[in-house]
Amino acid sequence: MGPELSVLISRRWWPKLPVMERSALRRGLNIGDALKLGDLWQGAPPPSSIITSPPYLDMHDYGNASQIGTRGQPFDDYLAQVARLFGDCYRITADDATFWLVAGSVRRNGRVLRIPDRLATCAEEAGWGLREAITWDKQKALPWTHHGEFRDITEQILLFSKTDNFRFDPTGLRSPIPNSIWWRRYPERYSPDGSMPTNLWSIPIPTQGSWSGVRTHFCPFPEELTYRMLALTTVEGDIVLDPLAGVGSVPAMANAMGRIGYGLDLTAEYVRLYDRTVQSATRFLSRMGDDRHRREEFKQTIIELRLLKFAKLLGKVISEEGIPISWVRVTKSNRLPAGDFKIVAGDFELVLGDDSLGDRAASVARSAIAKPPLSKFGIDARLLPVRLSDAVTTGYWYASGRFWNAPTSRRQLTGVPHVVSELRPIPDMIDDTPYA
Ligand SMILES: C[S@@+](CC[C@H](N)C(=O)[O-])C[C@H]1O[C@@H](n2cnc3c(N)ncnc32)[C@H](O)[C@@H]1O
Repeated sequence: MGPELSVLISRRWWPKLPVMERSALRRGLNIGDALKLGDLWQGAPPPSSIITSPPYLDMHDYGNASQIGTRGQPFDDYLAQVARLFGDCYRITADDATFWLVAGSVRRNGRVLRIPDRLATCAEEAGWGLREAITWDKQKALPWTHHGEFRDITEQILLFSKTDNFRFDPTGLRSPIPNSIWWRRYPERYSPDGSMPTNLWSIPIPTQGSWSGVRTHFCPFPEELTYRMLALTTVEGDIVLDPLAGVGSVPAMANAMGRIGYGLDLTAEYVRLYDRTVQSATRFLSRMGDDRHRREEFKQTIIELRLLKFAKLLGKVISEEGIPISWVRVTKSNRLPAGDFKIVAGDFELVLGDDSLGDRAASVARSAIAKPPLSKFGIDARLLPVRLSDAVTTGYWYASGRFWNAPTSRRQLTGVPHVVSELRPIPDMIDDTPYA
């Protein structure tokens, strides 16, 4: 009996079992042959996503006679095996399914074989449509090369779907770390949700050869890689499969993220290592909790910087109209922001020495708010002209004479219009760079 049959449930019990258990596979990592996926998956609900990485031709011998990519295998035989697998993946998945392939190029006789391109063609011939090609910067490679070669630190991550209707939600992948110092000066240009990920993913792999004597897999996916693919195209409760699962990086992370993860591999030893993979996935996710906190901090910082800069620009346009304004006091409001693309509501007190100018100041401010740049800040602003004699003057932070976006001083200013606020965007996210 082949190893893949050892997990088959006797057909005598078939009708009595709940739907998922009718499949030959258990949740988690199973011993089984991916080339028999069609049979193994029969009767089970369709996966929403398949995430996998085939052997890179014969680069590694995983020690199984029936493995895809045996020593010296002709390239066409290898592609025929892969094509058969990709066809089964297409047939067993849901109509809105996604299909991820991770692959790198190899060399034969000094010539580059562009495995990712050939795999992409096989997937397309099976019916999958290529949606995105991401370069994975692994940051590490063996230190030597041969004539005519560089050290190869990249692989390709290919995303396919069956139809235009597929899940793709980059929210959890947006970076809360802005890529330039300008975000403090131009908070209106930076999304509070962080910057959109690019198609270059820098995710390090362990130093090659650093396995400290423990026999493990040649090339397990780093946790961050599986996390990203799952976060982008699946939600809790989705069925996810890796038919060439190695040590089970995909099913382990999928299950830890509340998906229903299955994996198949021919190597019994990898199944024994699976507990370790599960522990690493769990540890990774608990570290991600801190990341959610950082994301929220960043979001609030951008929002507060926008409110403060908005107040600063209001003061500027009003004083440029020759209306003497003492300061603009800004408060973040609990009102639900009204209007398209508004992300926050703010109250702006326009504090004027001469109360007869209140209406004019408000009208100048209103027309400024209706057009760029202020209309682009995402702020639902309420304007409140206030007499200087009625204004509260203690307990607030003041912007410096240079009109910084973040008020930094409790010293009240005279003679120049300025911003007054209780808001102080998180101090360690603000450096001392002054901006005019
Ligand atoms: C590139 S590795 C995948 C590593 C995996 N992504 C991980 O994180 O550990 C390819 C895997 O395919 C497995 N494999 C090769 N032929 C197979 C087959 N016919 N059925 C199931 N697994 C197979 C190999 O044992 C190997 O573990």
